[in-house]
Parts: sequence; structure tokens; C-alpha cells
Amino acid sequence: MFELTKESPDDWWEIEALYDLSFAPGRELLSSYRLRDGVASVAGLNHVARDADGTLGGAIRFWPVRIGGAKSLLLGPVAVHPTRQGEGLGALLIETSLEVAAEKGWERVMLVGDASYYSRYGFHPLSGVVMPPPTNPERVLGRALRPGAWRGIEGEVMRAD
Ligand SMILES: CC(C)(COP(=O)(O)OP(=O)(O)OC[C@H]1O[C@@H](n2cnc3c(N)ncnc32)[C@H](O)[C@@H]1OP(=O)(O)O)[C@@H](O)C(=O)NCCC(=O)NCCS
Repeated sequence: MFELTKESPDDWWEIEALYDLSFAPGRELLSSYRLRDGVASVAGLNHVARDADGTLGGAIRFWPVRIGGAKSLLLGPVAVHPTRQGEGLGALLIETSLEVAAEKGWERVMLVGDASYYSRYGFHPLSGVVMPPPTNPERVLGRALRPGAWRGIEGEVMRAD
């Protein structure tokens, strides 16, 4: 049984180690990291999942970004420890965090990822939204947290500062 809690400063390095284990080497060279450099993550939305022993099973973080004049969440990184994948932990981290995001008034969320995975959470391709290169445009996905929130939103994704 896993418990989800908000990320605390003490969780930082353990989460970094989980991300290093879960993603290919050089993950910080990805274009999405250029949108995160020097920008604070959205603290109230970052979550960790720990089992009854306190072992970290998964983690999710969010950053703010801008597209034109519109604010959006950038979901990620999200990762589940390889020994705990396929148990629904990814779904729990994503759905719980997005519920909190909607309650806090966030209207839309985007990410760069596999449509085959994220479509189950209601993410769809954002054809007019452009991530810094190099990004495969087919991997730029979004979900409205309020009905119609992506309508008319297009342009380059920029840092939120
Ligand atoms: C993606 C990830 C977070 C999913 O976590 P999880 O706890 O295993 O997810 P869930 O148990 O909620 O869902 C598992 C389902 O997702 C599917 N899935 C996982 N990764 C997928 C992918 N890249 N594409 C398509 N389906 C995927 C599994 O096949 C499984 O399918 P099923 O429900 O039909 O059996 C996890 O696999 C992970 O950490 N991967 C490495 C890091 C990563 O790629 N993060 C996402 C970056 S975009």
C-alpha cells in the first residue's frame, strides 16, 4: 500500500536518484529542462509515493510555463521505480496531482511524452503548441483542467519567469 504526500525538501535527492534510474542518461539535456532551469517547481503539486516502509515508489513534479500570454502546467518528470511499475502508481500520481491542480485553479496542463500512455488520462496532441527544439511535435500533449481551456492557445512554450 502506497501513501502519497507532498514533496518535501528532504525528498529532493532521493527523487533525483529515482529519475536517474528511470530515464536514459543525459535526461537533463532534454528541451523540457530548459524550461525548468532557474524556475521554481510548483511546490504544492509535487508528490511522492512511499510504501509502508517509507521506500520511495514514485514521484511527480510540475513546473509553470507560458504559451503566448497563457499560463500552463508542465507535467514531469514522473517516474515509478522499475520494481513497482504496472501497479497503478503512475496513474495515482498523475490523477491525484491533477485533481489538486484543478482545485488550485490551474486551467491546463501539458507534457512531452508517449501519446500511447498519456491518452488514457485524457491528454491529446497540441498541434499549435511548440516546444523548444529538439522535440518531436507528436509528443507534445495537453489536457484541459477546465472545459475548453486549450481552445485558441498556441505558440512557443516559454519559461514562466
Ligand atoms: C511511465 C510510468 C511513470 C508509468 O508508471 P506505472 O506505475 O507503471 O503506470 P501504471 O501502473 O499506472 O500503468 C501501467 C500501464 O501503462 C503502460 N505504459 C507504461 N509506459 C508506457 C508507454 N511509454 N507507452 C504506452 N504505455 C505505457 C503499461 O504497459 C501498463 O499498461 P496496462 O495498464 O495496459 O497494463 C513508468 O513506467 C515509468 O516510470 N517509466 C520510466 C520513466 C518514464 O518514461 N516516465 C514518463 C516520461 S514521459
